Amino acid sequence: MQITSNSPADTLALGEILGRLARPGDIYCLLGELGAGKTALAQGIGRGLGIEDPVSSPTFTLIHEYKGRMPLYHMDLYRMAAPEEGEELGLQEYFWGHGLCVVEWPQAAAELLPADILQVELRFAGDSREIELAAHGSRSQQIVEEVTRLVDSEH
Ligand SMILES: Nc1ncnc2c1ncn2[C@@H]1O[C@H](COP(=O)(O)OP(=O)(O)OP(=O)(O)O)[C@@H](O)[C@H]1O
Ligand SMILES: [Mg+2]
Repeated sequence: MQITSNSPADTLALGEILGRLARPGDIYCLLGELGAGKTALAQGIGRGLGIEDPVSSPTFTLIHEYKGRMPLYHMDLYRMAAPEEGEELGLQEYFWGHGLCVVEWPQAAAELLPADILQVELRFAGDSREIELAAHGSRSQQIVEEVTRLVDSEH
């Protein structure tokens, strides 16, 4: 499914829906160019999980952990050079754990990721963003269906 976001607030609102729908062990992979709004979406997800601390970009530390309705592991793997580095960081522990993983720039960890991830791609569209949700298994398909229902009911 695809949604147009006309403002950071729209992106935050979609993130909030995704945060509310999350279950332990879910993985959201966020794709998109620099400045597309991945961290903005992650901030909404944090809000949807009931996290009160502000969610900030983990560009330099690669992973930020937050305590909410379930743990949020927010990663930005832009600076992760090789898949081996992911193993050193113990990314599998997070990916196969009981929190929600939100991963910006997941490409470097592709080999470590489980199959059933929700892929969220943000594309620039003038001053707006086109946000596309793609499922890669039954759990992520369920999330896409729930988001579709919730977004439709808002209009
Ligand atoms: N519709 C929109 N949704 C999200 N952000 C938007 C939107 N319109 C404008 N923006 C702006 O775009 C920027 C998005 O920055 P953000 O840090 O979320 O990007 P990012 O994809 O995480 O980049 P990076 O790859 O560097 O981590 C913010 O400055 C935000 O205000
Ligand atoms: Mg970011």
